[in-house]
Amino acid sequence: MAVSWHLGALMLIFFVHIIAAQTERKIYIVYMGALPKDYEYSEDEMSVESLHHDILEEVLEGSSAKESIVYSYKKSFNGFAARLTEQEQQKIAGMEGIVSVFQSKTHKLHTTRSWNFMGLSETVRRQPDVESDIIIGMLDTGIWPESKSFNDEGMGPPPSKWKGFCQNITCNNKIIGARFYNSHNTYGEDLSPRDTEGHGTHTSSTAAGREVKNANFYHLARGTARGADPSARLAVYKVCWDDGCGDADILAAFDDMIHDRVDLISVSLGLEMAIPYFQDSLSIGSFHAMKHGIFVSMSAGNSGPASFSASNVSPWTLSVGASTIDRRFTTKLTLGNQRSIMGVSVNSFATEKTFVPFIFGANGAIQSDPSTVADADVCMLESLDPKKVKGKIVYCNSDMSEGEGPYEAGARGSVMIAYAETDNAFTYVLPNLVLTKDAGKEVSKYLNKTRNPVARIHKSEAVFDRKAPQVVSFSSRGPNYITLDVLKPDITAPGVDILAAWSPEGSISGWEGDKRQSKYNIISGTSMSCPHATGAAAYVKSIHPSWSPAAIKSALMTTAFPMDHSGSLDREFSYGAGHINPKIAVNPGLVYDATEADYIQMLCNQGYDAMQLKLITGVNTSCPNATLGSSSDLNYPSMASAILKPTNFTRTFPRTVTNVGPPNSKYKATIKSNHRVNITVEPSILHFKSAYEKLSFTVTVTLLGEPLDNFNIIPSSLVWSDGKHRVRSPIVVFSFYDSELSSDEKYTVKRAMYSEPSVPVPSP
Ligand SMILES: *[C@@H]1O[C@H](CO)[C@@H](O)[C@H](O)[C@H]1NC(C)=O
Ligand SMILES: *[C@@H]1O[C@H](CO)[C@@H](O)[C@H](O)[C@H]1NC(C)=O
Ligand SMILES: *[C@@H]1O[C@H](CO)[C@@H](O)[C@H](O)[C@H]1NC(C)=O
Ligand SMILES: *[C@@H]1O[C@H](CO)[C@@H](O)[C@H](O)[C@H]1NC(C)=O
Ligand SMILES: *[C@@H]1O[C@H](CO)[C@@H](O)[C@H](O)[C@H]1NC(C)=O
Ligand SMILES: *[C@@H]1O[C@H](CO)[C@@H](O)[C@H](O)[C@H]1NC(C)=O
Repeated sequence: MAVSWHLGALMLIFFVHIIAAQTERKIYIVYMGALPKDYEYSEDEMSVESLHHDILEEVLEGSSAKESIVYSYKKSFNGFAARLTEQEQQKIAGMEGIVSVFQSKTHKLHTTRSWNFMGLSETVRRQPDVESDIIIGMLDTGIWPESKSFNDEGMGPPPSKWKGFCQNITCNNKIIGARFYNSHNTYGEDLSPRDTEGHGTHTSSTAAGREVKNANFYHLARGTARGADPSARLAVYKVCWDDGCGDADILAAFDDMIHDRVDLISVSLGLEMAIPYFQDSLSIGSFHAMKHGIFVSMSAGNSGPASFSASNVSPWTLSVGASTIDRRFTTKLTLGNQRSIMGVSVNSFATEKTFVPFIFGANGAIQSDPSTVADADVCMLESLDPKKVKGKIVYCNSDMSEGEGPYEAGARGSVMIAYAETDNAFTYVLPNLVLTKDAGKEVSKYLNKTRNPVARIHKSEAVFDRKAPQVVSFSSRGPNYITLDVLKPDITAPGVDILAAWSPEGSISGWEGDKRQSKYNIISGTSMSCPHATGAAAYVKSIHPSWSPAAIKSALMTTAFPMDHSGSLDREFSYGAGHINPKIAVNPGLVYDATEADYIQMLCNQGYDAMQLKLITGVNTSCPNATLGSSSDLNYPSMASAILKPTNFTRTFPRTVTNVGPPNSKYKATIKSNHRVNITVEPSILHFKSAYEKLSFTVTVTLLGEPLDNFNIIPSSLVWSDGKHRVRSPIVVFSFYDSELSSDEKYTVKRAMYSEPSVPVPSP
């Protein structure tokens, strides 16, 4: 009896579960590609929207189109977001005219956990009149409009092309657009583009903040804060909220940004891994932006150092990794025996005047059972006993928390031991520093040997880092998970311990209990490097307003500083073409240009379905030459190719360069090649007779000797030079013999690829 009752209950639960899965509505994106031909937004807005309603009415059961629809995308591309059941979404996916249907996922901000190095001086050559016509669209957490970084002193009215507007907050001639998108509002946040988090204010001021003298974070990093383009305009599109940034909202913002006529878009958010282009709102939105001549820069992600961890990898955007600048923050711990030990953190709290008791977290456990002691050892929340740790500095055997455990228990400070690298410094809710494992051993020895151990934590100091720039450990790495033969990330830019404007309502450390308020904050992430690249791109555009997004990207990539690769197994997979160098990027000599048709041909070559591509472009695409080509044929400023089998290997890279320098110029090719490959360039001399002339050449890479072991990276480079310009492209071939694996298996390989200690990476 009892048995059958259980069974019955189980079946009932199972049954209810199925019914719930069938009737539960989630937000799905229905992406339909380009708008119908000859379509004018203002006239046909209703007809596209009614098309969306018709599709919905056809499939909806127990709901109406009006109830179900979340957004109708109809200004810049075609599609909609709607609340659908599993069954309804499947029906739509099977209809004609649909590119993809996917559930609205939540993207995360690309800052790290809590979250004049570039050579672009204040006196650099500028065209302020043109710069002030440039509008940078920020896809982020909104903005704090009252920040001094966004004052509009001396700025004229917005450029006449501008069609955007401001919701709720009062804009000025610096912030000319501010809108918000929130299809869920889980936490009942204020519906407004005002930034209560800090991230969007930080990224906006990095890209285009005005000059603000004496900016600092509790006297740290004091100096003049400014963005790359102080005269450019900002248009903010708030899509990120307490629970992240939803696909449905992201696409609605892209639909508006393109229509509003922004010139560049900066995206410091993403998923933790790359997914196919037309299942990803950021790739879809940026594709249509590119079609409209809008440059899009995106953070590569903070999931490094694992291989294949770069998440924003579409070839029509610039993917930006994060590297250090020559200023780092160190924090000193002085022990009772007067020994001082250096750690890292951005500690704004004043140096302790007196020594305070110092205790192992494990000795401060709230209970004596092994599991609580283990939690206390790493200072987890609710594991420490306030009676034991109040007023003391706690030694935490991990740096995976933000110091909230000791803070909650009333500790005076904490000392954490780094799980991995100490190449970037965080801000904590209480005085804190992070030590390497070795330094941690020394401190724990002192704690063990001393009867009444004491210590004091100093305020952080800025120090000069001569090794900079180096790609930081958390910065996401290639290869490109979606298109192996397009190198990603493209470039690296400053993203470690960056000072920029902050929202006074935002938590300094990311921890709610943090009572500090600051108008400027120091944080790290590819979120911070991305707006540096956006700003650099805007600077190039201000000098060359007519250049295409691909030309601007090429200029940034081919003029990048080659990076020092010592200690970097991933080499080009961490920094792409190198470190951004905006001052030189305005004068690249040659550019590798590309149009929508080139990207479509690349997608054809990669095996994307011609029918899908036809919808996306709105023109008849038949992928005629797909079987003849490979994705490495794309006219990209870098060259990459995966070797998929351990056999002999030859790959040709057809490329075309456009002369953007003086009319009559002769360029000569120089190859710096790895000893495992033979690289030829044909022709190796390009003689341009006029400006904007295009000339083509072919690079052929042949593997020499025995086939490679799996997971080898063979780096080389090509430089075209006319004696004045150096147009540099990295050439990367790498062995990857598991490309047929399912994505789960690929993920395992991805980790193996990084941890493989014997990866031989010969120098060029
Ligand atoms: C912003 O405006 C919208 C209507 O446009 C309103 O619903 C919302 O409550 C406003 N938010 C705030 C914080 O005032
Ligand atoms: C200090 O003592 C703890 C146990 O209380 C032990 O785990 C740790 O290894 C000791 N540290 C050193 C450096 O001896
Ligand atoms: C589109 O291309 C296909 C294949 O090349 C062709 O058969 C068809 O007629 C074309 N349609 C239009 C409208 O051009
Ligand atoms: C396709 O290949 C043919 C022959 O190789 C060439 O003439 C034609 O231009 C190619 N078409 C495209 C779109 O690349
Ligand atoms: C490299 O290739 C070129 C052209 O095919 C050839 O002439 C040359 O001998 C090759 N070099 C090596 C080292 O194989
Ligand atoms: C691969 O190339 C080597 C010389 O580089 C040659 O000896 C060998 O026969 C080639 N193997 C195949 C399968 O072509």
